[in-house]
Amino acid sequence: MSFSDVNKVVGALCGAGIWAMVVGMTSNFIFAPEMPAKPGFKVAVGGEAAGGAAKAEEPKVAPIAERLKTADAAAGKKIFSKCASCHSIDKGQGAKVGPNLWGVIGGPKAHMEGFKYSGAMADRGKAGEKWTVEDLDKFVTNPKGFVPGTAMGFAGLSDAADRAAVIAYLNSMSDTPESFK
Ligand code: HEC
Repeated sequence: MSFSDVNKVVGALCGAGIWAMVVGMTSNFIFAPEMPAKPGFKVAVGGEAAGGAAKAEEPKVAPIAERLKTADAAAGKKIFSKCASCHSIDKGQGAKVGPNLWGVIGGPKAHMEGFKYSGAMADRGKAGEKWTVEDLDKFVTNPKGFVPGTAMGFAGLSDAADRAAVIAYLNSMSDTPESFK
């Protein structure tokens, strides 16, 4: 091998080396390894802290039976104005967009004779489910969350005290009001 041959080989090797470096750098640049949004150790630490904080901030919602002890049916009547565009409530009144709600609490789901309920609600009625205050509290919080497929186009009442008040009012509008006091 002559000197110039060695030179060529070395040159070729160097060229290849530089090329490899360039490719490596470029691909590193293009396919920059994605950094996790939160480094692993922080997830554990931050997660705990965040979880703890979330728990502390979460307003403690007492069970509906508990809230009904102090719920005000008269206040609930006012809140019912949000429901009244779709629901009549007095005994014997006809349906609007939604069924009449006289005596709904404790009664079967899909309780109004002749009302065209969604399949989802009708099925629950057929299954023998009743409107307990617990179920009603969940339904009024998030109708479509609690009864997927319901025809009740209402976003829900997020305020737990408002829900208790409206449920106390619904309970009073019945032949057989239940006692929660
Ligand atoms: C936009 C109209 C609308 C509003 C507003 C509305 N509802 Fe309804 N509601 C309906 C419809 C429609 C149904 C029937 C649901 C189905 O068939 O899935 C229904 C069903 C119900 C039922 C079940 C009745 C049964 O016989 O099983 C209850 C209880 C109820 N609504 C309570 C309320 C309360 C309380 C409010 C107010 C906080 C309210 N709704 C607001 C339309 C409405």
